[in-house]
Amino acid sequence: MKTTVTNNPKIAAAFIMAGDIAAFPTETVYGLGADAYNEKAVKKIFKAKGRPVDNPLIVHIANKKDINVLAQEITPSAKKIISKFFPGPVTVILKKNEIIPPATTAGLDTIAIRMPAGRLAQQLIKAAGVPIAAPSANLSGSPSPTNFLHVLRDFNNKIPCLLIGPPAKYGLESTVIDCTGKHPVILRPGSVTLEQLKKLDKNAVIQKRAAKIKSPGQKYKHYSPKADVKLITVQKSKVKRQKKLKQKCAFIGLNRNMGNDFDKVLICRSVNEYARKLFWFFRECDDEGIKTIYCQKVEEKGIGAAIMNRLKKASIK
Ligand code: TXA
Ligand code: MG
Repeated sequence: MKTTVTNNPKIAAAFIMAGDIAAFPTETVYGLGADAYNEKAVKKIFKAKGRPVDNPLIVHIANKKDINVLAQEITPSAKKIISKFFPGPVTVILKKNEIIPPATTAGLDTIAIRMPAGRLAQQLIKAAGVPIAAPSANLSGSPSPTNFLHVLRDFNNKIPCLLIGPPAKYGLESTVIDCTGKHPVILRPGSVTLEQLKKLDKNAVIQKRAAKIKSPGQKYKHYSPKADVKLITVQKSKVKRQKKLKQKCAFIGLNRNMGNDFDKVLICRSVNEYARKLFWFFRECDDEGIKTIYCQKVEEKGIGAAIMNRLKKASIK
């Protein structure tokens, strides 16, 4: 199959309306979308990604009114989050309406809803005229795509259409927040932080490893490059010892002094830059045959919680 690469959202929308799939940019990461109401189309996403069928998709909208169609009830905790953060890098979980087929939500009675802020994403959803179910546009298990070249790397001639746009502004996936209960519970940390949510509801929390995992995606190894990922608090000597293995090593972090010991280095000037460039760096390292990527740990506050969440998952063997 030849992939149609376009910068025209109407062309990509035509694929979605015809029951096919199309990749598209959002401000978090690129998504791989289908008509959320079309079970057959949604199944094509799972097939293309190699995604486990028990991992539900996020449904993307361009108009807040659509939430009333998709969800049974907009809880008070959801209401506050939606009015403050939609459109943006955030996803709310609510009880779902019948109209959404089980394939989209992996049989759950809840639905994940996001309104992306990216202009092309909005134009695409409006032109398609339906909510668009979309996971990140990467092969299952590999790092999420933060520019269109990453999508091509995973899916060139394997999906019918790619809508190209600018590189992702945030570079990490949206904050997923369970709003079915009295207080918001973050299932997946992201650019909208716990600290920001606490301003809306002081009882907001990040879900600790629960006995029952509410967000199925969280149980899979994720976001990982082919290289080994090792988390370090910056202690040079330790890293140097590791280096004697004579494999190509890379470093990403905030500490300027780490410089010379590595084959590839990315020093970020801020945690936001660290978040934005992390997945891009993982993919660059793989392309260059790096065997071990040392990632500097950051404090688990603000966006740092999201960075550490992704790093921990990437470092699981
Ligand atoms: O930024 C993002 O969120 C990107 C862009 C494309 O919107 N999408 C994305 O989708 O990261 P995906 O499929 O890679 O991650 C969705 C996460 C998964 O961990 C999934 O388990 C969780 O959201 N999720 C989806 N529906 C859910 C539901 N009903 N209840 C709990 N978790 C849900
Ligand atoms: Mg994903």
